[in-house]
Formats: sequence, C-alpha cells, structure tokens
Amino acid sequence: MASSIITILSIVFFLILISQGYSQCSLKDISVTQYETGVVENKPEWTVYISNKCHCTQKNVKLNCTGFQTSLGITPSVLRVSDNECILNDGEPIDKNLHIVFFYVWDKSFPLNPISSEIICS
Ligand SMILES: *[C@@H]1O[C@H](CO)[C@@H](O)[C@H](O)[C@H]1NC(C)=O
Repeated sequence: MASSIITILSIVFFLILISQGYSQCSLKDISVTQYETGVVENKPEWTVYISNKCHCTQKNVKLNCTGFQTSLGITPSVLRVSDNECILNDGEPIDKNLHIVFFYVWDKSFPLNPISSEIICS
C-alpha cells in the first residue's frame, strides 16, 4: 500500500516536471545578442539579433532602453524607442522562427535586456 502511494506520488511529480519543461516559457527565452559590426561616422555600429527560444509566441515584448541612444535611426516598427522602454516588432507576436535584426550606432553598446512580454501558448 505504502509503496503504491509512493509510486503514484513519483508519477505525479514526474508529470509536473514534464509539463513544466514543455509548457513554461519566460522572458528569459527572449535572446538578445549583439556584435560590433562596423564604424559609422567614427562611432561603432552594433548589430542586434533578437529571437524567441520558446515554442510559445511572445508579444508586447519590451526592452530596457534606459539611456539608449543611436545616431542611426531605427525603423520604429522594428524598435520603437521611448524614454526607458523600447517596444519590439510594434508589439506584434514574435514566434520561434522570427529573427529580428537591427543596427544602432553609438560609442558604447546598451544591454537592451527584455523587461516584459505576454506569453501566448496554444
Ligand atoms: C533598466 O536598466 C537600468 C540601467 O541599466 C536599471 O537601472 C533599471 O533597473 C532597469 N530597469 C528595469 C525595469 O529592469
């Protein structure tokens, strides 16, 4: 009797682990990587690659744009820069196969860490 309860508990625990592994996505799944890719008017040019590593779509993705500056304009529908936040892809869904690339030009790079998103798992 006791051993069957343990068995059931183990199965339940195992199922919880599996369901978490497969369905839980978070802001951490938004990957931001950037490289220095050139020089524009004596300032470094940075190329930013953003993708969603999760199988669930994420929308309304906002990045921390505190202090962000660029002497090269960025198409607002790709990255809409406001004071401390930037909206990615016009707030539209970013699914696993969408890779967003943009450039900016400034003396230093900015971390552009994701700060919020809405996760849509279907
Ligand atoms: C954004 O970045 C700034 C400077 O790096 C930091 O002080 C601030 O706490 C960040 N904001 C959020 C919401 O993470």
